[in-house]
Order: sequence, then C-alpha cells, then structure tokens
Amino acid sequence: MSKGRFYITTPIYYPSSKLHIGHTYTTVAADAMARFKRLTGYDVKFLTGTDEHGQKIEEVAKEHGVSPKEYVDKIVDGIKKLWETMEISYDIFIRTTDEYHERRIQQIFQKLYEKGDIYKSHYEGWYCTPCESFWTETQLKDGKCPDCGRDVELTQEEAYFFKLSKYQDRLIKLFEENPEFLLPESRKNEMISNFLKPGLEDLCVSRTSFDWGIKVPFDEKHIIYVWFDAVCNYITALGYPEIQEEDYKKFWPADVQLVGKEIVRFHTIIWPAILMALDIPIPKKVFGHGWILLEGGKMSKSKGNVVDPVVLVERYGVDALKYFLLREYSFGQDGLFTNEVLLNRINSDLANDLGNLVSRTIAMIEKYNGGIIPKPKTKGEYDEDLENLATSVWSKVEERMNKLNYSGALEEIWKLVGRTNKYIDETTPWILAKDDENKDRLDTVLYNLAESIRIISVLIRPFMDKTARKIWVQLGIDEGQGTGWEDIMEFGKLESGIKVHKQPPLFPRIDVQKELKELAGNNKNTEKNESKNQKKENKKSKKKKEKDQISIDDFAKIDLKVAEVIEAKEHPNADKLLVLQLKVGDETRQVVSGIAEHYKPQELVGQKLILVANLKPVKLRGIESQGMILAASTKDKLTLVTADIESGTTVS
Ligand code: MSP
Repeated sequence: MSKGRFYITTPIYYPSSKLHIGHTYTTVAADAMARFKRLTGYDVKFLTGTDEHGQKIEEVAKEHGVSPKEYVDKIVDGIKKLWETMEISYDIFIRTTDEYHERRIQQIFQKLYEKGDIYKSHYEGWYCTPCESFWTETQLKDGKCPDCGRDVELTQEEAYFFKLSKYQDRLIKLFEENPEFLLPESRKNEMISNFLKPGLEDLCVSRTSFDWGIKVPFDEKHIIYVWFDAVCNYITALGYPEIQEEDYKKFWPADVQLVGKEIVRFHTIIWPAILMALDIPIPKKVFGHGWILLEGGKMSKSKGNVVDPVVLVERYGVDALKYFLLREYSFGQDGLFTNEVLLNRINSDLANDLGNLVSRTIAMIEKYNGGIIPKPKTKGEYDEDLENLATSVWSKVEERMNKLNYSGALEEIWKLVGRTNKYIDETTPWILAKDDENKDRLDTVLYNLAESIRIISVLIRPFMDKTARKIWVQLGIDEGQGTGWEDIMEFGKLESGIKVHKQPPLFPRIDVQKELKELAGNNKNTEKNESKNQKKENKKSKKKKEKDQISIDDFAKIDLKVAEVIEAKEHPNADKLLVLQLKVGDETRQVVSGIAEHYKPQELVGQKLILVANLKPVKLRGIESQGMILAASTKDKLTLVTADIESGTTVS
C-alpha cells in the first residue's frame, strides 16, 4: 500500500551544450531521493526539464545563425541523453517551449492581471542577461551583477509588473512560521536580511526589447519575463490551471524543491509570492544546496574550467560518480572537486570496502560450500552484533534522507559494510574450513555474510541501482526476492540453497597516479579544444562588435538638443521618477526621468541638459515622457550631462 504521494523537483536547466558535473549534482541528488521514496513505498513524481526562453538564448541562437527553437531543440536532446547516461529516473521532463506550458503560463498571467496583481508601468533599471535578472542601482556590486559579477545593461522599457511588494509581510511570516520551508538555515537568514527586510519592490514581469518568450496574452508586444515563465513550470507540469483534478490535485504542493544556492531567491521569494497571488499552497520545502567548486572557483563554460560528467561515467561508471557526489560533499555546503579526491574515494569505499566484501564472500561460498548459500546452523560470537546493526540501518537511513543528509545516509550504510568486513576477520572462515567439526559454524558465518550483503544491496538501491542489481546476480537472487525495503528489517530472509555466481569486481581498483596523468592529458586536450573554441569565440565577438558598431548615418538619426529645465516635480506615483518641463527653443517638452535619488527638483530648474528629442513618447507610471535626458553613471552616482549653450541648439 502506498504511504502517500511525494513530489520532488529539480530546477529546469538552461539549454547549454555542456552541462558539467555541478549541474548533474542537483539531478543526482533529486534522483536518489525519488528512488528512495519509491523504494520506501511512496507514489513519486519527479520533475526536471529545460528553461528555454529569454534574451540569453535568443542571443546565442543568433550567434549560431539559427532560430531559438532550432537551437534549443538540438541541445535539449543532448540534455535528455545526459540524464539517460546518468540514469536519472525522472517522471516528467518539461520544456518551457511545450505548447501546454506556454498556454498555461498565459492563463496564469491573465489570472493575475485580472486580479490586479499584475499591472502595466515602465521599467528603468539594470538587467543581467546571463542570469536573466533585474537589479536596482543600489543592488549592483561595483556596477556589476551581484550574482555572477558580469556586466549589466541599462534597460528602459514599458513593462508589466507583478505586485511582489504586496506579499512582503506574508513572506516574512512564511519564513517565521515554517522553519522547514527553506533549508539549510543559513540561506533563510540570507533571504530575510538581504531581500525581505530591506523591502521588496514590485517585479518587472514582461519585456519588449526581444521576442523569444511567451507572449502576454492581452498585449502581444510584451513577452513574459523568463523567470516568471520558468518557476511556474512546477505547476503547469501538473496541469495547473487547466486541469486541476488529476496530478495537480494529487501532487501539489511539492514535498521538496531542490535548487542551487544562487537561485534560492527566485524560489523562496518570487515563487511563493506568485503562489500566494494565485491563492494556492506553497511548497513544503526548498533546499538550497551548495556548489561544487574547482580550484579556480565555480565551474563555468566561459572560464573553461568544467568537469565533464560523461568522461567520468565512461571511466568509472555512473554508480561510482553518483556515490562520490552524494557521499563526499555535505549537501548544504560548497565542496571542492579534484580528480584525486574522486579516485581515492572510489578506491577506498567502493573498490576496497564494498567491492572486496562482495568478492571475498562469493569466493568463500564457492570454495567452502560448492557455490551454494548454506543454511545457518551454529550461532556464535559476533552474530548478534552483526544482525542488530544490519536490521537497524534502514531507520537511520530514513532519518538522514528525510533531512536530505545524503552523505550521512551513506555513512550509516558504510558502517554496516565495515561491520561485515570486520565479521570476516573476527570469524576467520578460512580457519573454520580447515576442520570438518567447524562446518556448522562455517555455514552460519557464510550465510550471515551473504545475508548482510543482501541487506546492503537494498540499502544502496537509491544511490547505486546498477550495483545493487550486480550484487543480486552474484547472490543468485532476482528483484522481488528480498530486495524490497521492508525485507531489510529482518535478518534471515535470504533463501539458502541458492547458487552464487562469481562476477568481475564491482569496482576495479584504480591506479591513482596513472589515472591522474591520463585525466590531466585529457584536460590538456580539452584545454586545447577550449583555446580553439576561445579563438572562435573571440572571432565571433569581434564580428559581433563590428556588427554592433553603428554608422555615421545611424548616429545622425538621433536628434540631440540642448534643453533648459523650467520646472521639476516629483512623480505622483513613483519615488524614483521626476517630471521635468523642458524648454527646447520655442517648444516645451515634458520628460519623466529616473533621477529622483540623485537630484532634488529645485536643484534642476535653470540647468541646461541634453535631450534625445526624437525618442518615441512613452507613458511612465501614467505620465507621458517625450524624450530622454542624458546622464553619466558611476557605481552609485548619476550625473546629468549639462551644456552651457542656448536651449534648442542641436548637438551633433
Ligand atoms: N534555469 C535556471 C533554473 C530555473 S528553475 C525555475 C537555472 N539553470 S542552470 O542550468 O543554470 O542550473 C541548474 C542547476 O544546476 C541549478 O540548481 C544550479 O545551482 C546547478 N548548478 C550549476 N552549477 C553548479 C555547481 N558548480 N555546483 C552545484 N550546482 C550547480 O539556474
């Protein structure tokens, strides 16, 4: 009987041609949890997918000379193949370009618009294209994106906004009343002090300066902000809002949403606020895991310091890689990856501890009992200790897994691996085998070893499914013969009389020095390729730069005029905007400008500024702006460009 339902999600991945080991970390962790919950009796839905819209994808596709859809289609196939290689047992793979998702996002957007939680206004601020994030001037770090440290672009456009600020108090309450909502604890403090306490601003949720996205259903020149579209995948994949009777009803709210630490903000502030606005439940838990770092910092394709999971899987097998990732690092914290740490971990835990235990036991059953698992007979010292541990590990694993403590769960399992190896040394079967009088005791020892290995094989199923199955082949059992979770609460379930089958070692011992050299050689090749790629990139960016240059004719299209401020007032609906009346020759122009944090209205009267006079008028928070004034900005200061020349003069 099912213990209930369990819905787990990974973030949906940006279609990148090379997902690295850091990306696989989230899916490997989610996969182990999904398998664990299935094994322990839950009805599981495990969601992953791809996040395919946005300015960044549009730009990359353009560079490749293909349409965004052609570009993503090819890459998404590669991502699906990678998950196949990594044996990721997802139930749903959502693409944000799936027609059903696009339709449901429009329905959600419409719903919030009708409710008044989405409204039209004007955006003026900074945008980080690689992160697809909006930032205010004060949030920037040294003028760069505070998340990734890259350049940001000044963006000014008419846009729809989501009333995020309206949900500020409810969000603070959510954190206060649900200590388990965001884990680990440190991330919660970060969200509260960095974002919630300073005050939330409404979130810009549409763009007009590019096309690749889902159209705002009632205003087609706008496309929906990619993060709004992306976070909602967790419910559109279940049918919301169209079909609420089936998966959505059964699986929402999610039990666990796994995300890397850099996207916690989107998942624990923006995402719950959208759900609050929709009046639907908030996920039970969001876990913000740490990063896998390399010596030079975070892995990134642009830095050329990525570790390719496929190379590691080809050399050491998928189970070794999955085990390593979940055992070596503490899930909530950052961890350093080196080939040496990986190889040593495989040798010690997998080749030595587990691999040797299985091969020694099978070899002894072959040698001392003709390959048949004997019936246990004479009890002896050490048996009870082994049995007690073997039948109690499952509850410790459950406890650790429910806290997403993967490393701790594996540590508990390895205590049994270690205890069983010790049992061999304590009972010395090779000495018992020398004397026929000890045959009954030898039978018990051999049986206990095989039984303990069966229990270990079930315990490792969520993490290393292939290895568990290989062990069953060696023990001569099939799935269903003592391989379920409930079968490991009791010692003695393994049938006697079954024939074992010796197989090659589960994890061949690695010659670390030799392997390190080969991997370094591999890296050099990759570096060579990467420097080739870099050259290509440089060429491309040179071309792009050339393409980005404008001709004198283009420049001549911009009509710059000297304009004198004759009146300046605060904007009635926006703290950051001022409304200026400018005298441009004989004409008067009204301009709305985002300079209120830098200038007081009275300081401006009489100043002669430079106006872009032929800009198409737009309404900014309800007031028409007929042009734009020029300013220079440094990190936290903005200075208007002034000219002591008669108003109306053309600047060229
Ligand atoms: N598309 C967004 C997520 C949208 S969810 C509504 C995104 N995609 S991503 O491809 O950049 O990242 C996917 C996952 O990989 C994230 O959880 C991210 O934290 C994780 N990782 C990427 N590099 C990583 C490391 N070096 N180490 C650990 N995890 C990292 O973000």
